[in-house]
Amino acid sequence: MKTNRSLFAIPFCVLLFVAGLAAQEKTTPSANLALTPPMGWNSWNKFACNVSEDLIKGMADAVVKSGMKDAGYVYVNIDDCWQVSRDASANIVVDAKHFPHGMKAVGDYIHSLGLKFGVYSDAGSHTCAKRPGGLGHEYQDAIQYAAWGVDYLKYDWCDATTQDAKASYANIRAALDASGRAIVLSICEWGTAKPWLWGKEVGGNLWRTTGDINDRWGGQEKWPDGSCCSNGVLAILDLQVGLQSYAGPGHWNDPDMLEVGNGGMTDTEYRSHFSLWAILAAPLIAGNDLQSMRPEIHDILTNKEVIAVDQDALGREGERVVKNGDLEVWAKQLKDGSRAVLLLNRGGAEQQISVNWEDLGYPSNFGASVRDLWQHKDLGKFTGKFAAAVASHGVVMVTVKP
Ligand code: GLA
Repeated sequence: MKTNRSLFAIPFCVLLFVAGLAAQEKTTPSANLALTPPMGWNSWNKFACNVSEDLIKGMADAVVKSGMKDAGYVYVNIDDCWQVSRDASANIVVDAKHFPHGMKAVGDYIHSLGLKFGVYSDAGSHTCAKRPGGLGHEYQDAIQYAAWGVDYLKYDWCDATTQDAKASYANIRAALDASGRAIVLSICEWGTAKPWLWGKEVGGNLWRTTGDINDRWGGQEKWPDGSCCSNGVLAILDLQVGLQSYAGPGHWNDPDMLEVGNGGMTDTEYRSHFSLWAILAAPLIAGNDLQSMRPEIHDILTNKEVIAVDQDALGREGERVVKNGDLEVWAKQLKDGSRAVLLLNRGGAEQQISVNWEDLGYPSNFGASVRDLWQHKDLGKFTGKFAAAVASHGVVMVTVKP
């Protein structure tokens, strides 16, 4: 009997410990957030520092009125420049001129529309627009955000000097969780310290993989003053190759917010930009003026068939399966076993692009139904391959269902 007791004593302790860990995991407020890539709107790409209560409320109204809420967009996120200083107790001070009723009032308004509220800060001492950052105030700020009803925090990396990126983001995640509120953590570290390797472990729900996107098609270019760099859609796209295995429910690669509708690209290019982000299972955070969008832009942002690819519950990020000069095929496995497939023509003239079933992981003798997600049309049954003419800078996006 004596021997038995000591034999069982250790495993029982281990069991208790494991059960304790499991219970702890379940009660973390941020568990189960962002099980599909977050969708919403953010102020930066169009309005930069020109943010105000009126602007944000107007955009929240437009998310509802435009049908974007129905299409799945839920977060309304204020980026940089809502904050001006810290008070004598080091509480963050809101720009009272532009947000006269404070942040809780803005959050309450957004919530009253059935939407969610996001704000922005920075892991260093200052934000990229030189406003006060979060360093040394993580827990104090997290309590404040929770009191305002914040649901989403984008945390930037300016002025972080010698800070360790992984430790810095683990710290803000711990602070947000300690506030007791479920808050999505958007790691905005620009890919410098490869956040895809540690972002999930520290409780990040998405992490930027690159520097800032710019509203243009094309690769990386120096700015006119010689400084580095302006990233077009293709520059950002190429930097996603090989990262697909790091994404999944609750933790996503973020190739940056959408530029759709901001005026620097053609509608064909915007359709490609949006389709590519959907194939990449990227967060779909619109960045245009929702109050004055043309019908063509509205129709891109609210294409429910393309959004369904992005939001597919399996949570697989798509990958490039064919590269033949300017002609590429990207494919994403979907939960029902079918594939979303994107034929991309980066070149200057229309081209025929084809995809073989083997490129998609299907045997060549399979018959499969193909549906065009921009024409909203079943194209019929195909065996072994599918091909289509693709406009310059355009895409053909289909589902292939055996
Ligand atoms: C950085 C980020 C951008 C934006 C600005 C705000 O550049 O990468 O997305 O948040 O800061 O200053």
